[in-house]
Amino acid sequence: MESRNIFMNWKILNVSIPVKNLEVSKDFYNRLLNNKLEDKLFYKNFFENHNDDIFLGEGGFGIRLYIPKQDLEFNGTIQSRRTYITLIIENFDLVLRKLNEKNIKFIHKKNNDFEKIMVQEPSLNLIQLIKSNKVLDENYKKFIDKSNWYIHHMNLESLDVRESVSFISEFLDLEEGKWTAPKNKGDFSIDPRELSIFPMSSLNKGLHIIKPDDGFGFRNNFAHNPSIAGHPAFTVKDVKKVMDILGQSKILFSNAEIYAMPKFHQIYLYDLNANMLEINQEV
Ligand SMILES: [Fe+2]
Repeated sequence: MESRNIFMNWKILNVSIPVKNLEVSKDFYNRLLNNKLEDKLFYKNFFENHNDDIFLGEGGFGIRLYIPKQDLEFNGTIQSRRTYITLIIENFDLVLRKLNEKNIKFIHKKNNDFEKIMVQEPSLNLIQLIKSNKVLDENYKKFIDKSNWYIHHMNLESLDVRESVSFISEFLDLEEGKWTAPKNKGDFSIDPRELSIFPMSSLNKGLHIIKPDDGFGFRNNFAHNPSIAGHPAFTVKDVKKVMDILGQSKILFSNAEIYAMPKFHQIYLYDLNANMLEINQEV
């Protein structure tokens, strides 16, 4: 039996990061990622008007910074208190059918030419899905051409990795892969009950699912514990420059170097609102 091509049927569109102050956070992210792109209008196709927000990136690809509000002000929709991801999927109609068949709760909306699903996986991470189309394919190429950075992966904390993986495999129709570790692997488990990956391409890009590991930071000599609360990871062209900026700004970071993924120099830090971030560079 020939295995189907697992790398072609989905992409990361953007991440939404909760912040307190849009302008201050915008400066922070722009500086760290050397970002020069800002979208004022197009990204609104994918989001409701419930939250004040801004978008760093273009054509839907990038980072949305948003201000969460009181949960009780939300009627008929949901918000996330944590960073959450939006994926573009090709098998949108199939996913819709499966969710309906099994009576999974979700929100389905059409907005201009875009169709979306919002759903929570079993560990309550919010995931937004957008139906793929030609416009987004073209926007992707333009963004990759113009941008100084891109989203490498989103890491989701799961209290039961196998349960989350089953849900994502069955209902989101993504295919689980195998973690590729480097030679000098750090002190963490790649047992699929503790760490899993839905690869979007080679090089561990995609969706990472991890069980919280209280000793992760301690054992690896990091100031941060990247197994707790999830994080987006951004690939930049010069991670040393990012470390210089962090040093000058007296922002604590963990320089993990190459320890979890071959060919990727990784660092961890908190943004201004204690959202865990990973920044990495392909080396
Ligand atoms: Fe990561």
